[in-house]
Amino acid sequence: MFLNIPGNLMTKIEPDNLPRHIAIIMDGNGRWAKRHAMGRIRGHKKGAQAVRATVTACRELGIEYLTLYAFSTENWGRPDDEIKALMSLLREYLEKEEKALQKREIKLTTIGDIDKLYPAVKTKLKEVMRETQNNRKMVLNLALSYGSRDEIIAGIKKMMEDNLKGKLEISEVNVDVVERYLFTHDMPDPDLLIRTSGEYRISNFLLWQLAYTELYFTDVLWPDFKKEDLLKAIHAYQQRERRFGLTGEQTDKNKVSVKK
Ligand code: FPP
Repeated sequence: MFLNIPGNLMTKIEPDNLPRHIAIIMDGNGRWAKRHAMGRIRGHKKGAQAVRATVTACRELGIEYLTLYAFSTENWGRPDDEIKALMSLLREYLEKEEKALQKREIKLTTIGDIDKLYPAVKTKLKEVMRETQNNRKMVLNLALSYGSRDEIIAGIKKMMEDNLKGKLEISEVNVDVVERYLFTHDMPDPDLLIRTSGEYRISNFLLWQLAYTELYFTDVLWPDFKKEDLLKAIHAYQQRERRFGLTGEQTDKNKVSVKK
């Protein structure tokens, strides 16, 4: 697949070396709005459009899992009007996109504490998740009221409860067992993490799951993120040598692959 990316001329994307799972920290909505002399909420609205375009592009490319960090546990500390606007945008997104998700056979899932979301958002989310549960072409996984430390703590508590009930022995606890207790138990770890807006942080996102993920940072602000930016990130990913702690010779010979 040859792609004409401005500034890069012909960039080759290898169709058989696509990341199975892309996770994105969508950052820079506020700064985008400021640059355009607008209020922060206008930045989030434009950000929602970038979500639509990115979901479409990932589906066209054949990406199996796309996880978007849409609302963190820390985001509850933002001004009330911003929280309210973000909740409305989410509901609007679900209402407008549910038909398209169904048509394109995209399954919607979430990670995070969705009980904390505004009731109208939670109701709509559950409806769209139920409707799309049998879709198999792609998983769109929204991280909502999500924090990785909370996820790990919830997993530890559940493991301890299971231990007390005699369902889990301490000697049985290993990487595979811990993964079963995380919100992401039914998906592979991300192969590629993209963070927009020139910030170099993980911000409490998928701390366990990113252990061997390739990290890609771009200065592009999320509302400006386009298909060509996604392709650039995938192209950069395809230039990396993933060694998973082994030597280059070992991974060349054995073609180490990602778990699951
Ligand atoms: C970070 O930008 C972005 C968020 C906290 C919210 C992300 C939400 C959207 C992209 C829109 C709605 C989502 C969906 C799934 C429809 P920021 O506000 O922290 O930006 P700043 O760092 O420039 O202030």
